[in-house]
Amino acid sequence: MTPGARLQAAAEVLDRIAAGTPAEQALLGWSRGARYAGSKDRAAVRDHVFDVLRRWRSTAAQGGGESGRARLIGLLRQQGVVPESLFTGEGHAPAALSDDEQAAGRAPEGAEARDLPDWIDTLLAESLGDAAGAAAEALRERAPVFLRVNTLRGDLATAQAALAGEGIETRPHPLAAGALEVTAGARRIAQSQAFAEGLVELQDVASQAVVAALPLVPGMRVLDYCAGGGGKALAMAARLQGSKGGEVAAHDADPRRMSDLPARAKRAGARVQAVAKPKGPYDLVLCDVPCSGSGAWRRSPEGKWRLTPERLDELTGVQAGILDIATRLVTPGGLLAYATCSMLAVENAAQIEAFLARHPGWTLEQQRQFVPGDGGDGFFSAQLRRPA
Ligand SMILES: C[S@@+](CC[C@H](N)C(=O)[O-])C[C@H]1O[C@@H](n2cnc3c(N)ncnc32)[C@H](O)[C@@H]1O
Repeated sequence: MTPGARLQAAAEVLDRIAAGTPAEQALLGWSRGARYAGSKDRAAVRDHVFDVLRRWRSTAAQGGGESGRARLIGLLRQQGVVPESLFTGEGHAPAALSDDEQAAGRAPEGAEARDLPDWIDTLLAESLGDAAGAAAEALRERAPVFLRVNTLRGDLATAQAALAGEGIETRPHPLAAGALEVTAGARRIAQSQAFAEGLVELQDVASQAVVAALPLVPGMRVLDYCAGGGGKALAMAARLQGSKGGEVAAHDADPRRMSDLPARAKRAGARVQAVAKPKGPYDLVLCDVPCSGSGAWRRSPEGKWRLTPERLDELTGVQAGILDIATRLVTPGGLLAYATCSMLAVENAAQIEAFLARHPGWTLEQQRQFVPGDGGDGFFSAQLRRPA
């Protein structure tokens, strides 16, 4: 496909998304009907679509309209590319710009320029204060790719060398020991031998930092209560089982989400036991709760535009409920760790404040709000100690 044809495909996918089709489904629908598209074409169309989704409001302002075509014109203008050079009408490229389209477009302002819905713009400013502008700006950019070196399989230098041998360049990231930022060859990771042999896992560096900050000691019994795909359970297992052992259990209200976990654990050489009804007591219970995902919107930008105040309310209720249930699973004197990939205070510091008011005797040992400026996704973590 020519660069112009890729833009035309992206415009069509964006129109489907605007009509309500989820982004992944819209992309899949296009790619099923596009047998002529190679893997590079598919990646390029996907990149265009996600670049616009991150900048949904500002590209519409600069492109002078709400259609996929207009937003792509706005995106190209933001990238300093003259749209007329690609919108040529030749072959499968989009039609040339009309006089009206050439004249349309204006500089975005305020929340529109920060590419946030107005109500979230306000919440983010209340949550992060002076850091909100930079966080919003970061959410308009593509996310870096990070790997966690699985120390059950090898050390950082071994992993870096193995990856380099397969054309994947990395550098250590200071936010978490054992974290590698991929600087070249990211698209090769899933097919690499280093990945297949469990030497590295894909995991955001802030997620890694949350697990690295947990006071894990040999012999501990820990539970990942909202395990999902098990990324954090595997990271905890790597820390515990690399020393003198310890038990890691994984639970999720929707066990299907853990379906890949046995294969992932096998690949990583880790022991993680899936449990349907955890009874406890555990020395440490990690609750990586469902959340707005606001810290990860550069990876899943659709979430910015689909979140509603009602859904956020519902989520904060679910989060409080999970914390309350988890208190019963923590041994006296043990630790309850709370994590979200959110930057909104209602899901984070305010949630912890409300927890402490509901559970007298529990103490807050540490909490941290990560922002994209730290290198990884926006993330929050808190460690709560049960009275002995
Ligand atoms: C943020 S995701 C977890 C991601 C995972 N920890 C990781 O590192 O890959 C939140 C998970 O919580 C699960 N969940 C939702 N409500 C729950 C509940 N009441 N109890 C336990 N898990 C729940 C969801 O099914 C989802 O898999």
